[in-house]
Amino acid sequence: MFKTIFNKMTSVFIAITIFSFSVGGVLLYYFLGRSVVGDMAATLTSTAENLNTSLSIYRENWPGDINAALKDPLISNNLISYSQNTGSIIWIVDKDGRLIKSAYYKTWDFMTNTPLIQFNKFIYESGRTLLPETQMYKKVMTGNYDIVEEKGDFYGMFADTGKTWLTIETPIKYKDSAGKSIVEGAIFIHAPIPQILEARSGVFRFFIIAVIVALLISITLVYFAASRITKPLNKIAGAARVIARGDFAQKIEINSKDEVGELARSFNNMAAELQNHEETRREFIANVSHELRTPMTSIRGFVEGILDGTVPENKINTYLAIVRDEISRMSRMVNDLLDLSKMEAGELKLVFKKVNLNELIRRCIIRLENLFEKKNLYVDVSFEEEVLNVSADPDAIERVVTNLLHNAVKFTPLGGQITVRTYTQKNKAYVSVKDNGVGIAEEDLALIWKRFYKTDKSRSEDKKGTGLGLAIVKSLMNEHKQDVWAISQVGKGTEFIFTLDRINVE
Ligand SMILES: Nc1ncnc2c1ncn2[C@@H]1O[C@H](COP(=O)(O)OP(=O)(O)OP(=O)(O)O)[C@@H](O)[C@H]1O
Ligand SMILES: [Mg+2]
Repeated sequence: MFKTIFNKMTSVFIAITIFSFSVGGVLLYYFLGRSVVGDMAATLTSTAENLNTSLSIYRENWPGDINAALKDPLISNNLISYSQNTGSIIWIVDKDGRLIKSAYYKTWDFMTNTPLIQFNKFIYESGRTLLPETQMYKKVMTGNYDIVEEKGDFYGMFADTGKTWLTIETPIKYKDSAGKSIVEGAIFIHAPIPQILEARSGVFRFFIIAVIVALLISITLVYFAASRITKPLNKIAGAARVIARGDFAQKIEINSKDEVGELARSFNNMAAELQNHEETRREFIANVSHELRTPMTSIRGFVEGILDGTVPENKINTYLAIVRDEISRMSRMVNDLLDLSKMEAGELKLVFKKVNLNELIRRCIIRLENLFEKKNLYVDVSFEEEVLNVSADPDAIERVVTNLLHNAVKFTPLGGQITVRTYTQKNKAYVSVKDNGVGIAEEDLALIWKRFYKTDKSRSEDKKGTGLGLAIVKSLMNEHKQDVWAISQVGKGTEFIFTLDRINVE
């Protein structure tokens, strides 16, 4: 697991690093070259223009042709210092391409100690050098361009230098007496670009080193980042194994605020939930066994008594009646439990119908009439409307009402009063079953809905109940997606209220 996460993150990081560096590198390469060559071209261009201006000022103020101008020490000094300052070779050629003046400063490559230019490339003609190919000067001599820029080895002339050259050409123009502009010659300025390329490859070397360093750093960071994730994950996996063995008390100590911390917290919650479930299950089994053991012990006692003759003949029927009651109580309990587990498993399918709630309640009360009479209870029934239609499963609601009425009877002393009331509020119908019996203590109110829960008082008073009735009520109301709650005061009485959805409400 550690390996895979680490590997995945490393590959992603390496890919991102290489990708971003490549994009950056390409852009840098492009812009670096462009801007340096651009700067250089601008410098050479302004040099050419300055020279041209000096020449034309001379030509306007002193007699003689361009040759005379170039002989002027001011101009030739200018030429040398321009060559010096820009590290370039400057040629002045006449309109036929004959070299009439030049300045070669820095024509040696000091790194390799070789001449930058092989001068034998020049053709000497009547003591002067000539640009050997017409295309070398043809364009600029037309006078149509102020500046001609060329890059490369200048028609093979600088091929031996092994470098790329930038050449800036500008025509030398002169206005004759008729005011016509004539091209007398041109200025050529050449400078090698190799320094720029070297600078660029230097930058690239640095760049590659940066990539390697970045990769190393990112792999190290990924290692720590990955172990920050994998360590807690391993912890969680370990805890999960322990839990699988049944030890639910397992807790993971991870306090980070990120998703892993969130996972650990969810895991701890899950473990706590599981523990809770396990406790509920144990408690449930204990409760069931206890509830079954008591009646079984008494059944066994009675039956043994009958069999070995300890029970007198005339009492046998009474004891058998008790045995029958106990058995029916047990089977009721088992049925209740089965129903509850069905509800919890979502297997109980309610059939929703239009039900006249008042009618249903009336039926329940009539069915329990003899119970009320036995305890001499006064039952007060009050319906807000004659017909109250609700959407509900009638069997389920009958069971709810019957359970609540049973409880009211059980926990109300002789001669007490039970009030059953239905009323409405907006789309809801409310059913209230109220008694003036023993009541439920505050601390028990939330617990009475639990399976097998009986208050201490009812344990001593009502030995027949199993504490499943209200759990069933709660489950059925949950299935209806409705509420049920109790209000009670010890010694004064208890009121159970549940809601249902009305239908046919205009
Ligand atoms: N109307 C009531 N007045 C006082 N206490 C009540 C009332 N209804 C329920 N209780 C308390 O809540 C407990 C749980 O009620 P529940 O109906 O679930 O169980 P039960 O009546 O004891 O048993 P069962 O309904 O399974 O026969 C009761 O044991 C009793 O302590
Ligand atoms: Mg009950």
